[in-house]
Amino acid sequence: MRVRVAFPLVVLIAGMQTPAAAQAPLSASINASPGADTVTISRHIYGHFAEHLGRDIYDGFWYRPSETAPWQYRDDIIEALKKIRIPNLRWPGGCFADYYHWKDGIGPQAQRAPIVNSSWGGVIEDNSFGTHEYFELVRRLGTEPFVVGNVGSGTVQEMVDWWDYINHPGGSPMANLRKANGRAEPWQVRFWGIGNESWGCGGNFTPEAYATEYRRFATYIRAVGDVRPFRIATGPNSADTAWMVGLMANAARQIDGIDLHYYTRTRGSVVPQLAAAGGGQGAQGQGPPAQQGPELNRSATGFTESEWFVMLRNALRTDELVQQHSAIMDRYDPQKRIWLIVGEWGTWHSTEPGTNPRFLYQQNALRDALVASVSLDVFNRHADRVKMANIAQTINVLQAMILTQGPQMILTPTYHVFEMYTVHHDATRLPLTYEAGSYEFENRSIPAITASASRDRAGKVHITMSNLDPNQPRTVRTTLDGARLSRVAGRILTADKMDAHNTFEQPTALQPVVFNGARLSGNTLNIDLPAKSIVVLELQ
Ligand code: AHR
Repeated sequence: MRVRVAFPLVVLIAGMQTPAAAQAPLSASINASPGADTVTISRHIYGHFAEHLGRDIYDGFWYRPSETAPWQYRDDIIEALKKIRIPNLRWPGGCFADYYHWKDGIGPQAQRAPIVNSSWGGVIEDNSFGTHEYFELVRRLGTEPFVVGNVGSGTVQEMVDWWDYINHPGGSPMANLRKANGRAEPWQVRFWGIGNESWGCGGNFTPEAYATEYRRFATYIRAVGDVRPFRIATGPNSADTAWMVGLMANAARQIDGIDLHYYTRTRGSVVPQLAAAGGGQGAQGQGPPAQQGPELNRSATGFTESEWFVMLRNALRTDELVQQHSAIMDRYDPQKRIWLIVGEWGTWHSTEPGTNPRFLYQQNALRDALVASVSLDVFNRHADRVKMANIAQTINVLQAMILTQGPQMILTPTYHVFEMYTVHHDATRLPLTYEAGSYEFENRSIPAITASASRDRAGKVHITMSNLDPNQPRTVRTTLDGARLSRVAGRILTADKMDAHNTFEQPTALQPVVFNGARLSGNTLNIDLPAKSIVVLELQ
């Protein structure tokens, strides 16, 4: 039996087992005693990302019923997103951020000059959605802004002017300009990204060169009015530990958060050192292949168990990446002052046939939902260092919450996972130990179970647990220590097919339903997890 320790959460992975043994009950235990863990699972782990890319903003949040109609917000989308209580919204990119000159997007909309969005398909960006429109969206969503400034093609002066335009209380040249454009009050933004993917589409810097550049920009993003900036540096691409070392060694003192990016793909392995190869996943295409190997089907649907297995294996690697990068951060920042932010994560499939390949529009199936639950459980378990994450992206792009077609919209399975996991927002992490069992496929194996647990302010205990095995159910016998709990209720997201998904014809084919597979007897909780399922349990 192998034993793996993930901070206070201990995962016991049974070694190579026969399929029959894999079905034996697995054991788990949760320490729910008051004070057993003091770490809060930051709600910002459940953050989102909207870039000027494809149909995320335009024809997503911001649409017009006809070419001549004025742009407007989509209330149905906003209402749906309010239900998952999105805590922050990263904007305007992505690769687009290092190409964006914010003054193009202020003033009367009719007078804003269009530009070409050379980051994403060379389409015309009419700049109708700019700073004021973003803050109005943030207000309507009830979320916190997270703005990414331009390092790659911008200047310190341009970034400082934007910071002042947004935050200066009044009287400065930029505050006066804001007022002239109809907004007297500052918006008071604290989350501020200094560039995006500076190892790739954000300027192709080396870690040392970026650290120097970062320090220069960060020096002038200063406290203004009541706002103290929370300055976020471009973090590593996946497993690029050299980037993390270069940044921590040269700029840790000026950094509040580091923005790691990791996409889960069907390719064979974690994307290695794209920075060294000079390739990003964005403007340059999708980077070099991670590993030579058998060609796998990259479609979001219509895949086989091979692609199911590889995708989930790669999602589980999020845990390794977080541990590797945290260990480097710990060397320079043992107090854990600096947030590890997973500022772009999610599945990256091939685009849907017939759509613009640079728009990154993909379907979203039960497999994506499991990638989300695996990743969110990792972030919860490492909540002492991971304080923020942003799934890419909110609407119509990559692992979206919502897909639209004209006036129609559908909620994806990933949306439902985010809704189920709202119970963990700002809750106290609970120490959880579990035997993960193994899901085997063609002589390879990965843990079958993933889980995390927390207690909310009202004292309720929540467990999220997923079974990654598409064929076999699992029973998990969980002991609860330190709390007297007498009631359990649950919901489950599952389906018969690995690629089950919602469509515009069948928008509710996949959605959570009541789960009756958990039985509480004394302090023992038996959970019968069907194959390929995600469960959320509430105990009180
Ligand atoms: O999310 C799509 C793109 O992926 C982003 O623009 C970029 O930062 C990353 O490569």
